[in-house]
Amino acid sequence: MEKKRIVSGMRPTGRLHLGHVHGALNNWRSLQKDYHCFYFIADWHALTSEYEHTEIIKESTRGIIIDWIAIGLDPEESVFFVQSSIKEHAELHLIFSMVTPLSWLERNPTYKEQLTEMSQKNLYTYGFLGYPVLQAADILMYKANGVPVGEDQSPHVELTREIARRFNYFYSNIFPLPDTLLTPEAKILGIDRRKMSKGYKNAIFISDAKEIVNKKVADMITDPQRARRSDPGRPDFCNVFTFHELYTDKKTVKEIEEGCKNASIGCVDCKKKMAANLNKALEPIREKIRKLEANPKIIDNIIDEGNNKARKIAKNTMEEVREVVKI
Ligand code: TRP
Ligand code: SF4
Repeated sequence: MEKKRIVSGMRPTGRLHLGHVHGALNNWRSLQKDYHCFYFIADWHALTSEYEHTEIIKESTRGIIIDWIAIGLDPEESVFFVQSSIKEHAELHLIFSMVTPLSWLERNPTYKEQLTEMSQKNLYTYGFLGYPVLQAADILMYKANGVPVGEDQSPHVELTREIARRFNYFYSNIFPLPDTLLTPEAKILGIDRRKMSKGYKNAIFISDAKEIVNKKVADMITDPQRARRSDPGRPDFCNVFTFHELYTDKKTVKEIEEGCKNASIGCVDCKKKMAANLNKALEPIREKIRKLEANPKIIDNIIDEGNNKARKIAKNTMEEVREVVKI
């Protein structure tokens, strides 16, 4: 039986950090077994916020693909492609923009939140309001059955379903309604306890060198109530502990939990242990990154091949769309 299809994208606004790994990529990696996966670089989406400084988009497009492969996404199993290389996305976006009521976009919670959160950028643009319409084009182009995303993106998948429903009703029933496949893993926080994000300068990147990881871990904010070494700590309120749960063996995690609660272990030691384990996990990934970066041709080929596979499907979908829209 043909595997079901999933589509997901990532905005190229910098290299991958642990927030991406635990918030998306570990899930993307395991989905490869059961689904035919289309993973792409959403560079046009990045343009909605980075239009003044576009260098970062090109730079990080290759970097992210390298990082994907390094953490175990497999270009032999999944299709990796670059959104702007498949011009059909722009055409489908345009057609969808004609049938999408403004009110659907204006009430989108992610839209409202981003406008206030990223107040240093002028996001009152036509393109930014239409962000989810482009996303709908990305997803429906490949007739995806599912879309793996974090909670913040689920309104966009819901909008995609509404746009598909409306298109199907006006023209012809050609688009399946995709399901949201919510990422199961908990969000990990940045070193300042806010959501891990490049913009907040609180991220640990998978390509960070060992010394940088050590420094960032040393700077991590722990349980805010544990002011002195002799104060008992609360692991459940400590981001360092969350990292231990991900990177340290179960037995040691138990010891740290008790040691923290009865103040027999100090935060400095606790962090050193965590940093060592994190570095152990990252070392083979960094090694892979180094190898891939030394071989630019390999990445070029992977992108070309993926683009070709994606384009073939996109061409077919667009022929069908033009036919039913009669234009
Ligand atoms: N909007 C997504 C984000 O900001 C990226 C994205 C673009 C996407 N197109 C997509 C995700 C299609 C899933 C499916 O993270
Ligand atoms: Fe956090 Fe470890 Fe300090 Fe406890 S001992 S507060 S878990 S860093």
